[in-house]
Amino acid sequence: MKRIAVVYHSAHGHTEHMAFSIREGAQGVPDTEVHVLMAEDLVARPEALADYDGYLFGSPTFFGGVSGSFKSFMDATGGLWRTQRLKGKLAAGFTVSSLPAGDKQSTLMSMFVFCMQHGMLWVGNPILPEQHAGVPYDEAANRLGSWSGLMAQAGHSAPADAFTDGDIKTARMFGRNFSETLHRVSGAN
Ligand SMILES: Cc1cc2nc3c(=O)[nH]c(=O)nc-3n(C[C@H](O)[C@H](O)[C@H](O)COP(=O)(O)O)c2cc1C
Repeated sequence: MKRIAVVYHSAHGHTEHMAFSIREGAQGVPDTEVHVLMAEDLVARPEALADYDGYLFGSPTFFGGVSGSFKSFMDATGGLWRTQRLKGKLAAGFTVSSLPAGDKQSTLMSMFVFCMQHGMLWVGNPILPEQHAGVPYDEAANRLGSWSGLMAQAGHSAPADAFTDGDIKTARMFGRNFSETLHRVSGAN
C-alpha cells in the first residue's frame, strides 16, 4: 500500500476542485491510499507529512507565485528539512490561475525548488497536448502545454468547478501518472 497526500491551499475553491480531481486519478491505481489535506491545517503539524510516500502540492497562482497560505505551509516544514525526513519521497505540483499563462510557471518553480531543498524527487506531467491529435482545445488533455507540473485555468469569479473538460481530464491523468510512478519506482509493480 502506498500513501499519497494531496496538499493544497485554495482561496476561492478552484484549486480545491482540482485537488479532488487529481485524487480521483491517483486513487484509481490499486493499493493506493490518497488523503486530501489543507495546507493551512499542516502549518501546526507539518510532521504529519512524514507518514506519506508521495505528495501532490497545489496552490493558486497569486501575483505569479504560490499564495501566502501555501508559503506559510512551506515555511512550517523547516524542522523536516533539518532532519531530512522527506528525502527521497516523490513530489509533484499543480496550480490554477485565471489567465491562460498568468505566470503559473513561477508557481510551479517555487514548489519545485521547495521539493529539491527537501531532497524529494520531482515528477512532471508527461501528457502530450491532445489538441495536436485533433481533440477540440477545451476537451484536450494538457491543452495549456505544461510538463513541469499541472496547470489549469478558471475565471476568477467563475464557480469553483468551472473548468474545461480538458483540464479535469488532465487532473485525473496527472494524479494517475503520479500514483503509477510511485508504485514503479518503489519496485511494487
Ligand atoms: C491576490 C490574487 C493574485 C492573483 N494573481 C494572479 C496571477 O498572477 N495570474 C493569474 O492568471 N491569475 C491570478 N489571480 C487569479 C487566481 O489565480 C484565480 O482566481 C484562481 O482560480 C484562484 O484559485 P482558488 O479559487 O483556488 O483560490 C490572482 C488572484 C488573486 C486573489
